[in-house]
Amino acid sequence: MTPPTRALFVLHTAAPSGAELAALRLMRALAGRGTVEVAAAYCEDGPMLARTREAGIPATLLVGRFDSRAMTIQTRDIRRFAAGLLRLAQLGWRLGDLTRRTGASVLVAESTKALLMAAVASRRARVPLVWHVHDRVSREYFGRWLAIALRVLGWVSGAGLIANSRSTLDQLITWRRPTLVAHPGVDRIEPGPRDPQRPPDRTVVAVVGRLTPWKGQDVFLRAVARLRVRPARVLLVGGTLFGEEAYRSGLQELADELGLPVTFTGHVEDPQEYMRQADVLVHCSVLAEPFGQVVVEGMAAGCAVIASGPGGPAEIVEPEVSGLLVDGGDHRQLTAALDRLLQDRSLRERLAHGGTARAERFAIADAARDVAAFLEQVVGARTGRRGRSHV
Ligand code: GLC
Repeated sequence: MTPPTRALFVLHTAAPSGAELAALRLMRALAGRGTVEVAAAYCEDGPMLARTREAGIPATLLVGRFDSRAMTIQTRDIRRFAAGLLRLAQLGWRLGDLTRRTGASVLVAESTKALLMAAVASRRARVPLVWHVHDRVSREYFGRWLAIALRVLGWVSGAGLIANSRSTLDQLITWRRPTLVAHPGVDRIEPGPRDPQRPPDRTVVAVVGRLTPWKGQDVFLRAVARLRVRPARVLLVGGTLFGEEAYRSGLQELADELGLPVTFTGHVEDPQEYMRQADVLVHCSVLAEPFGQVVVEGMAAGCAVIASGPGGPAEIVEPEVSGLLVDGGDHRQLTAALDRLLQDRSLRERLAHGGTARAERFAIADAARDVAAFLEQVVGARTGRRGRSHV
């Protein structure tokens, strides 16, 4: 009998941001399937470590704390950057020990920093590494050279690549590597009670996501200020992470200056409650969004959705059927789309209906099924090669 695939997921941060939430959902669904044994390793303590354990998934905190904030893409100080790299390599060494000790048969790196660690661990423990890519490894996000370095590292060290969208996969080097596009699934959202679509001047419009410049909440506020009929309420749902407080206070000033009825909810555990109050959910990232889970969540919650492409949202939204698509960063297009939607209640109803149906195509169980098969394939290929080399 073939032993079960034992996947060790590697996460550098334990903060509840998009990739980490998607990773936990996937780990839970994989563990629930029973064919893949799942464990996790985090580099820092935080809410996601606790939640992983609560989900019954064994999670280890790698000793030797890594401050994920100390090393960011913006770090221009070469010495600090190099020190960060060294730190990750040391953690990778320990991760290698953990991999051996726990008998993991595949490492799954959930971020670029996790990739660096897992690359070291995979060599040390001689198990294959799969890079689960949640970011677009592009120049806009990482800068030219870092993007190239990461693509090469991913290709050299990765025995397989999983991307959260085709658009994310397109940024990677995939030559002779098995690949999988696994759109992050959402947990089944029970169609709960929600407010029916309101008349134009009573509408509620929500933007859900971290308050951070590339998510474009400022573009959104400017677009709202230009509307023919302004909504009755605007909800900015989301907190700040990694030193974005200045952006948040800037947004507050902008909202006051433009005289907009904006509520800042701060970080909320379950944004569904707000999505159910909203007639329209806007996703307005100014850079190509790698996937965009809130687009699916907004659809599942019965909102009429406007999302910005290119990137993942263009793979989620079927224009005019399950939502509207605009070009990221273009506030004129966003104003036009919002004007259209707010004034046309039946269009909102139609798109909301189409969106709910579309959201069902993004079930976490389907993603877990595909990922399980992919991990088994990667482990099988490695075992097969080893087996042959002993003959
Ligand atoms: C990252 C991406 C986001 C995606 C999420 C899950 O947070 O920025 O677009 O939805 O990962 O893959």
